[in-house]
Amino acid sequence: MITNEFWLERWRSNGIDFHMEGVNPKLVNYWPSLPKGSRVLVPLCGKSNDLIWLAEQGYEVTGVELSSLAVIQFLGDNDFTFETHQEGDLKVHKVHDLPLRVVEGDYFQFTESGFDACYDRAAMVAMPASRRKEYVTHTLGLLSSSASILLISLRYDGDKQGPPFSVDETELSDLWGPGMQKIAVENLVQTTEEYKALGHHLFEESVWRLQH
Ligand SMILES: C[S@@+](CC[C@H](N)C(=O)[O-])C[C@H]1O[C@@H](n2cnc3c(N)ncnc32)[C@H](O)[C@@H]1O
Repeated sequence: MITNEFWLERWRSNGIDFHMEGVNPKLVNYWPSLPKGSRVLVPLCGKSNDLIWLAEQGYEVTGVELSSLAVIQFLGDNDFTFETHQEGDLKVHKVHDLPLRVVEGDYFQFTESGFDACYDRAAMVAMPASRRKEYVTHTLGLLSSSASILLISLRYDGDKQGPPFSVDETELSDLWGPGMQKIAVENLVQTTEEYKALGHHLFEESVWRLQH
């Protein structure tokens, strides 16, 4: 079962193979052009450098992450100075030199709304099938009706158990709605030896965008 404790333990044991050292090239390539100051939500953000890239574009960025270790590493590795305050069960860390906040706590307790855009990389696919609908409904509820979404999804063959989970295209469209368009696709088996070595024929990373 994928519980909050599962993720806290992943961080404690450094089982964070999902973390990328640099900025995700698919974010840089496919992020829509939005007015500076747009409020961007990054659910289940880990210690992703993508938060910094988004803030450097001039957006007001809010990442939400369960693990205090992830948050400490993110703030520490980047030498950020910040201030922290408590909002209910959530701790809000506001970085001094960038328009960036990291909210520490359970995403499902985070209820601030009206975000102009959302970036989901390894968040929806981190959710087990039993909680995926709840995750998407919660996320859509935090976004304005005209919000843009950039989502990176995964679909793979074989009997691997997630996370990351394989999400097929019908489910993805059912969850997010028909406006979600697939704009890029890469079979990682063809580009990254490790997926072939694991016996996959298909390990497809796809990029989806909802834009108004
Ligand atoms: C697969 S990682 C992806 C992290 C990040 N998006 C990235 O691209 O590196 C999923 C992250 O979601 C966090 N997480 C899982 N459940 C959560 C929840 N209910 N609330 C907030 N964060 C959660 C985990 O601690 C983990 O850091």
